Amino acid sequence: MDKQVKKIGVLTSGGDSPGMNAAIRAIVRTALYNKLEVYGIRRGYQGMIEGDIYQMQTTDVSNIIQRGGTILKTARSKEFTTDNGMRKAYEQLQKHGIDALVLIGGDGTFRGAVQFFENYTIPAVGLPGTIDKDLAGTDYTIGFDTAVNTAVEAIDKIRDTAEAHDRLFVVEVMGRDAGYIALHSGIACGAEDILIPEQVTDINDVLNRIDMDERRKKTVHILVVAEGDDFGGAKEVFSLIQQRFPMLDTRTCVLGHIQRGGSPTCADRILSSRLGHAAVMALLNNKTQVMVGIINNEIAFTPFKDAVKEHTLVARDMLDMIRVLST
Ligand code: F6P
Repeated sequence: MDKQVKKIGVLTSGGDSPGMNAAIRAIVRTALYNKLEVYGIRRGYQGMIEGDIYQMQTTDVSNIIQRGGTILKTARSKEFTTDNGMRKAYEQLQKHGIDALVLIGGDGTFRGAVQFFENYTIPAVGLPGTIDKDLAGTDYTIGFDTAVNTAVEAIDKIRDTAEAHDRLFVVEVMGRDAGYIALHSGIACGAEDILIPEQVTDINDVLNRIDMDERRKKTVHILVVAEGDDFGGAKEVFSLIQQRFPMLDTRTCVLGHIQRGGSPTCADRILSSRLGHAAVMALLNNKTQVMVGIINNEIAFTPFKDAVKEHTLVARDMLDMIRVLST
């Protein structure tokens, strides 16, 4: 990069995650502090294509650090995956004189970025914004901590009613390709079993464990299932449990999008603030096409193409621990 960045565009893309607003605030304020102009691009790549772009001032990000969602709105743009869509998006950036981008999003956002930068050259830094925690190059993603805490609060409530009725509950949490929400919320809630895409689910093992629990008169069972588990979500697991144990009082609960909303936790607000600040500083220091993350509490940069390759492996010891702690 031989040219000093002057005008940056910021967008949120893909599924929203609590803490995106805190990240936008940090980006806008760090940019303005460093005498850069900042432009908000609404509705992610789709807004970039349509030129839905406005200049942001420091007051535009007042009172948003505590709010879920994203003031810039978000979208999953199909048009951006086409050559024509990408060309239109680039033309809009040129029209507005935007000479660098800050992208907040997940897997799909960075895959889109990799494709875009094969054809168009513009400095860009990304922030991992997804509740799924399914990116390499960072220990945590923006929104994960809040989503897990939302799931924990809900599962604790489910356990109360399950206990009152001696019921078995299959609780489905989000995570299309990643089981981190299931794993963390399941461990934190003392789940009897946790099913995640990263581990092959042998449904007979799951059923046998329920059988063993029944024999030793365990009256409450909570099974936490990631929506993307290789066997299937709560519905599939529930119907097999019913077939094998018709005498059990079994229910399902799909937590769904409540996990994506709400006020970000303190951890997410701090993560978002650190990453937002680091992203702008990175652009000023001529870094490009990297995602800024936090590894062992230190800022770390990972090329977009590596961030989306695979997510960090689920620690084996955590998986082994579930069996021990649920006995
Ligand atoms: O953003 C990640 C995620 O919440 C996944 O866990 C989930 O599978 C997906 O988004 C749902 O997407 P949508 O809101 O578009 O249905």
